Amino acid sequence: MSTQNGRAQWATNMGFILAAAGSAVGLGNIWKFPGKAYEGGGAAFILIYLAIVAIIGTTVMLAEFVIGRHTQKDTIGAYSQLRSSWKGWGFLGVVTAFIILSYYFQVGGWVVYYIYSYIFKSAEVMANPLFYFYNLLGYDAANSATFFPLAGAIICPLIFIGLTVFIVVRGVEKGIERFNKIGMPALFGILIILMIRAVTLPGASEGVKYMLTPDFSKVTGETFLIALGQAFFSLSLGMSIMITYGSYLKRDENLAKNTVLVCGFDTLIAFMAAFMIVPAVFATLGSEGVGKGGGFAFVALAGVFQNMPAGVFFGILFYLLLFFAAMTSAISLLEGAVAAVSEQRNWDRKKVTIGMALAMFIVGVFYTISQASVNLKGVWFDFTDGVSFPALADFMENVTDRLLIPICALTACLLAGWVWGAKNGVEEVRQGGKFPFSLGNAWSVSVKFIAPVAIIIIIIFGLFLGKAIS
Ligand code: PHE
Repeated sequence: MSTQNGRAQWATNMGFILAAAGSAVGLGNIWKFPGKAYEGGGAAFILIYLAIVAIIGTTVMLAEFVIGRHTQKDTIGAYSQLRSSWKGWGFLGVVTAFIILSYYFQVGGWVVYYIYSYIFKSAEVMANPLFYFYNLLGYDAANSATFFPLAGAIICPLIFIGLTVFIVVRGVEKGIERFNKIGMPALFGILIILMIRAVTLPGASEGVKYMLTPDFSKVTGETFLIALGQAFFSLSLGMSIMITYGSYLKRDENLAKNTVLVCGFDTLIAFMAAFMIVPAVFATLGSEGVGKGGGFAFVALAGVFQNMPAGVFFGILFYLLLFFAAMTSAISLLEGAVAAVSEQRNWDRKKVTIGMALAMFIVGVFYTISQASVNLKGVWFDFTDGVSFPALADFMENVTDRLLIPICALTACLLAGWVWGAKNGVEEVRQGGKFPFSLGNAWSVSVKFIAPVAIIIIIIFGLFLGKAIS
């Protein structure tokens, strides 16, 4: 095993890139991005998104990488090494990872359930996709009755969690790096097959045309905020992951180049997913069928598979694609949290991994049962609707997506740009001149000013605009 000062390391730079890209490529790329791109005017949204990733996404990702690699510590350790009073902000990143993973685990379980369902009971899913999905969440729609969702909240998530824990326990190189080396090529191959299938369906060309034509009439100020929020979520920023992954990288690797590759790959996959989903929906359900989120991926897409030849086969492939996407992301979230707790406390990594996964599982159960069977609410405040009491599940997503992720991304920029100093960050990339970093000055300006201002705007507008941003 490669180590440095007794700490785990990636065996190869490629392993690091695949793992970071594996973290970034997740459910956000496959079911959120296509719907947002559709609503945001096709190519118009794509162009805006591309500009945001190029200017702000790469800035924040590089900030997290330099913090991690310079300190060679977990997130909490990294923040406190650069400024001891900032330790709490590092801790907040870990809390963010904890909350996100508690519900990501649940949704990962649902993906497993759908792989099983398409293999063994596709006729049942397709007979009534909505009722089938409700049933997983504990709602018997035919009889308007609720029940405890044993499969959706307990059994399937436990299978998904078990696999994630198994990989993380094996360590950075033998577990995470190895799994990504198989999972990411598999994901890419499946996506290509599905994309070719989608664009060659009769009627799909309308969808392709829609996505290639920029419709700027659909672009509003909000479109930019949605694109910005989506970029952070999609690139796995603001949740302690890229700091932790960066900390396992050797000093003789080029961080600037790696950042461009990871951001580029994540964006490519999002675009490919959009060119898979939108044309397929146009061809089978009509343009109104395009949606985003879990309901869309688990319910509406059943109609797509129903209406295409060999739909069950492509359905299985699609949920396998989601499985690899979700698994490599879940691994990264768990690693970020586990590294922080085990290194800070000096506790046994294996025990911490199992213990934290169990704690996340317990919190996650409440996420799923709050969707139908039990009345659990959170509290939310925004300037449009005032105080509201959304279902716990929506509350958890709101808190992480609208508040915690942007706050943590902001602290990473401020830490790298101001507290530690952008000059030091640039030097961490250059390694005494070993690597050219011609955009070093541009990055310094972006990490100190442009990215923080953009993030502050998302936080404020996220509150003002209320439910509009998701
Ligand atoms: N980036 C992943 C996606 O696009 C999601 C993710 C979020 C992964 C948080 C890790 C942490 O779905």
